[in-house]
Amino acid sequence: MLLEIEDLSVSYRNEEGEVTSAASGVSLSLGRGEVLGLVGESGSGKSSVAMSVARLLPSPPAFWPSGRILFDGADTLTMPLPELRGLRGRRIGVVFQDPMGSLSPLHRIGDQLAETVLLHERVTRRTADAMAIEWLGKVGIPDPPARAKAYPHELSGGMQQRVMIAMALMLGPDLLVADEPTTALDVTIQAQVLALMRGLCRGGNAAVMLITHDLGVVSQMATKVAVMKDGRVVESSADVGGFFENPRHPYSRKLVDEARRMELK
Ligand SMILES: Nc1ncnc2c1ncn2[C@@H]1O[C@H](COP(=O)(O)OP(=O)(O)OP(=O)(O)O)[C@@H](O)[C@H]1O
Ligand SMILES: [Mg+2]
Repeated sequence: MLLEIEDLSVSYRNEEGEVTSAASGVSLSLGRGEVLGLVGESGSGKSSVAMSVARLLPSPPAFWPSGRILFDGADTLTMPLPELRGLRGRRIGVVFQDPMGSLSPLHRIGDQLAETVLLHERVTRRTADAMAIEWLGKVGIPDPPARAKAYPHELSGGMQQRVMIAMALMLGPDLLVADEPTTALDVTIQAQVLALMRGLCRGGNAAVMLITHDLGVVSQMATKVAVMKDGRVVESSADVGGFFENPRHPYSRKLVDEARRMELK
């Protein structure tokens, strides 16, 4: 397995010392070529689990009372920071729920993309700049050479989201962790982004953890599904068709029924 999350608990401790548990006893696994659709209501702990994978939760306030996250056999929760930095952006691409989570307000977007390339690959600045522009185009940003010069705040939320998606995909990661990657995107661009993600998995080399509220996206993209509620995985299934036909947990049934009603509207 490329990714094995075992008995993971994620908590937050505030300045007063009070602890909130965001996830407990979560076990999930993901192999190359697989797309895990992770669903569940707001506050169920999806982002807390997903952002733990590359240890991207600020700690404090976050801490991990239990668990291991094995990426290619190495525990990202305990590995030294330099090793982890080598994985982030290179072998693990991350799309944050909040685009500004990964974009710096101080640098032009083209430079930020090029820097990501230069950090991990032995290429010239010119090649890195060309890759940045190529990827802005791939995620549907019009006039990439001009837009590359923009600062994040000059772009709409949807455009920022696309820049972040480009950053996460451009080095061909083994694992893409995408937290609500298409929420701010219109249908056409959403389809384009989903196609890029599918392309990443096509050779069977990469895996995707896809968090979404949209069960339509899950049915189009996922090869397996996990449902979270109150910090726990209440149902997981490697048979997506079977999950939609016959969700076992009452909460999953509710989600699937709601999605059907939306579809009929
Ligand atoms: N920095 C933080 N400090 C304290 N509590 C937090 C922090 N971040 C998240 N939480 C709490 O952890 C729980 C899980 O939050 P999380 O963001 O992981 O859920 P989610 O499933 O991603 O929700 P959404 O669908 O709204 O994105 C919630 O109760 C949330 O309030
Ligand atoms: Mg979230």
